[in-house]
Amino acid sequence: MIVTTKVLLDEAKKNGYAVGAFNTVNLETTKAILNAAKEMRSPVVVQMTEKTLDYAGGRAMFHLVKNMAEFYFPDIPVAIHLDHGKSMEIVERAIEVGFPSVMYDGSRHSYSDNVRTTKRVVEIAREKGVSVQAELGNVPYLSEVSENINWDDYMTDPEEAARFVEETGIDTLAVAIGNAHGFTKERDEPDYDRLAKIAKSVSVPLVLHGGSDWEDGRAKKVIELGISCFNVDTAIRLAFIGAISRMLASGEETEIRKILGSGMDAAQETVMKKMELFGSKGKA
Ligand code: G3H
Ligand code: 13P
Ligand code: ZN
Repeated sequence: MIVTTKVLLDEAKKNGYAVGAFNTVNLETTKAILNAAKEMRSPVVVQMTEKTLDYAGGRAMFHLVKNMAEFYFPDIPVAIHLDHGKSMEIVERAIEVGFPSVMYDGSRHSYSDNVRTTKRVVEIAREKGVSVQAELGNVPYLSEVSENINWDDYMTDPEEAARFVEETGIDTLAVAIGNAHGFTKERDEPDYDRLAKIAKSVSVPLVLHGGSDWEDGRAKKVIELGISCFNVDTAIRLAFIGAISRMLASGEETEIRKILGSGMDAAQETVMKKMELFGSKGKA
């Protein structure tokens, strides 16, 4: 059953666990994510970026996920989400296609520009019952993380976050507390105090991007402190490509479905482990 991310994350927040928002790029990664959700009886967010919409076709990808979820996984609550919509145009395109949930990512703009565009996105989304995620502070990408990174330049400010949520009316907020995109060096220690302050000053569920390499202790602790969703992309890609590479290395397999199927199985395993870690297992 298709739901909004607001429904899934509000429920997770209320019950002290987190949901995984997993990036898909094609049929195989979509099926891997949904198979994992079914196996784990877990609610799930299936999300995609503008690059994927351009690669596969927005309507094709959206309806692939929707049809697959509704037809083969009717008992699993599935949110279909636009990840990192960087412009008003892409967000409007996603809403027009039918996405029940979008992210407008104005995190690289000034505070006032971020507020202004996010507010407009929320106005448009409200009319259609679409939920909106936005980001304040910003979560760095692999290329930005080096020994010399100054994490303070990226962090979400708790007071500003409270104002941002109030001014924009968003449903969920992506935060920067030392997390980074990609398999990369995150901040040595997440800024737990900052997260606690944000969670105290903001009533909407909080999302942690760059969730691929958040394991055991750290993941559990940020869930306790108020994270209700982890975004996971790189871990799926690495599992998928690793399995396919191993199969191709034999030089004997020529069956496309077997080759891609091995990637799909490996991706499913990875997603299942994440669902267990985030505590969403058994919550569907
Ligand atoms: O946070 C973004 C994800 O890692 C997706 O990356 O733009 O290559 O689809 P992408
Ligand atoms: P990772 O690639 O680090 O898992 O980050 C995913 C993400 O934040 C997608 O928005
Ligand atoms: Zn992200």
